[in-house]
Amino acid sequence: MKVLVATEKPFAKVAVDGIREVVEQAGGELALLEKYTQKEQLLEAVADADALIVRSDIVDAVVLDAAKQLKIVVRAGAGYDNLDLAACTEHGVVAMNTPGQNSNAVAELALGLMVYAVRNMYNGTSGTELFGKTLGIHAYGNVGRNVARIAKGFGMKIIAFDAYCPDEKMMTDDVMPVHSAEELYEKSDIVSLHIPATDETKNSINYALLNRMPKGALLVNTARKEVINETDLICLMQERSDFRYVTDIMPQADGKMQELFAGRYFATPKKMGAQTAEANINAGIAAAKQIVAFLIDGEERFRLNK
Ligand code: 3PG
Repeated sequence: MKVLVATEKPFAKVAVDGIREVVEQAGGELALLEKYTQKEQLLEAVADADALIVRSDIVDAVVLDAAKQLKIVVRAGAGYDNLDLAACTEHGVVAMNTPGQNSNAVAELALGLMVYAVRNMYNGTSGTELFGKTLGIHAYGNVGRNVARIAKGFGMKIIAFDAYCPDEKMMTDDVMPVHSAEELYEKSDIVSLHIPATDETKNSINYALLNRMPKGALLVNTARKEVINETDLICLMQERSDFRYVTDIMPQADGKMQELFAGRYFATPKKMGAQTAEANINAGIAAAKQIVAFLIDGEERFRLNK
């Protein structure tokens, strides 16, 4: 059993050591392709792999064509918009993710970005506090729930919208459910995005929605850049000098936005949400264990494709 870890953005070494231990204890062999820059490198490395662990690395039909031995691919993380599930099915490859394993790390970064923004990016001027402000959590999954838990410590008032989450679940966490995205944006001083990138959500954060936010609005994106309608966001920020945007996923128009919106726009140079030793260990080792359980016992929990 050969397990390839292919990560353009590598895991912490301690996580790779943990993955290796799980694979070797099961009698397998670990291969590592880190920081690759060309798809060809991945195509070559995957040729004799039985299992593949990736992060946001694209696994499409081209990769699957090259992976003649591949039985399973696990996205060590939550969002699986980088996996072509239909192509996995066509190639007879099982696809999985590791939900929840890196959600605290992403949630901590979301709060960190909030503090950075409301303190005027630490530029020495007087900012504002999170205490008493209304935080709108858009999608109440694993990350959203962790954001709520941490934001409570800051003394924020927390509301959330998630069409797929029952009100009771939010109310148990002292989070007030709202029943439309429009209501969420209208009532929130700060919105934190936690929706996945799907056909339904791509480009859904548009001008009309964002413009419902009150004066001094702050939008925090630790989800995916594709969910934002970038043209609309730029247009709105040009019209509203009070509107701020901080993100962990660099927009297409990063250069232009830096120029136009200095002091109220910030993007991390590389997605950092899940980039902690803890998250790498949790997600990486979970991925390795899921592979071993599947290859040895046929365990299919967390399977994404049919
Ligand atoms: C996820 O979907 O799990 C996060 O966005 C983390 O992605 P990464 O593994 O590419 O950092």
